[in-house]
Amino acid sequence: MRNAPCWCGSGKKWKKCHYPQQKPLSYDQLVDEYKKKYQITIKTPKQIEGIRKACQLSSDILYNACAYAKEGVTTNQINDLVVQLHDRANAIPAPLGYGTPPYPKAICTSLNEVICHGIPDDRPLQHGDIINIDITTILSGYYGDCSAMVAIGTINEEKARVIQVSYYCLQKAIAILKPGILLQNIGNIIEDYASSQKCSVVYQFVGHGTGLHFHEAPQVCHHYNDSSIPLAPGMIFTIEPMINAGQREGITDPKDQWTTRTIDKKPSAQWEHTVLITEKGHEILTFNAPTLPSLVVSQ
Ligand code: MF3
Ligand code: CO
Ligand code: CO
Repeated sequence: MRNAPCWCGSGKKWKKCHYPQQKPLSYDQLVDEYKKKYQITIKTPKQIEGIRKACQLSSDILYNACAYAKEGVTTNQINDLVVQLHDRANAIPAPLGYGTPPYPKAICTSLNEVICHGIPDDRPLQHGDIINIDITTILSGYYGDCSAMVAIGTINEEKARVIQVSYYCLQKAIAILKPGILLQNIGNIIEDYASSQKCSVVYQFVGHGTGLHFHEAPQVCHHYNDSSIPLAPGMIFTIEPMINAGQREGITDPKDQWTTRTIDKKPSAQWEHTVLITEKGHEILTFNAPTLPSLVVSQ
């Protein structure tokens, strides 16, 4: 088609003549378009600096919280440590008082069959538990959000599998990030991999834009989807796949209205990073978080 003679009769090929040319958008036009079309805030260099610091701190605190999570330690004690570390850095844990009903603690601690939003309490961690610790930090008004898994002692095969699969889901999704790829590519690569490993992908919770507010547009689905939003430099969002050993459905506790468990009580695991899209590709802003090779397996 593009090599056919142009319809205008010039005798030139269509692609060399009246073929519609896409003019690259100017930076300001791009920012406007993302706001109007998708409600996405493309961050300025100054905002990126602030968010980068919040993310470094958040992932630093997450690292310390994970190292502290051992058999016999309660999730309330982990919560208290995280409160202290925020105080010391003049920062605020974002979850406290967030949402409806107001979230009662500073962090989320999701054990075993809990998919997300587990509330810290006085139950001591037990040998064989797996726990996700999720920390969101506000520093000078900017947000950083990340989470990681800890294995308490020796864990069974099913728990080890969800920890590993959710980690590689996150890593594989991050690896493809660059301007121009579509938001759907994230969920598609995650579900392709998870299902190849006989795991299911939670669809009731999603990643999200972040940085200036806790949760911003866009929603970042971890399951198969057809979002055609192209990634653009200056976008900041989380990827936080929740992967189940059994069925994908979760049920939220009717009493506390936060804790969400797998419907079949099989284990679930999650890892989360906040990422920035750059001209060349991407940057993991919460890079101080623990990694799977350094997974804390307390004895
Ligand atoms: N940190 C969670 C996320 O990754 C959100 C927790 S909401 C809260 O988006 F209220 F429970 F803190
Ligand atoms: Co998040
Ligand atoms: Co989080």
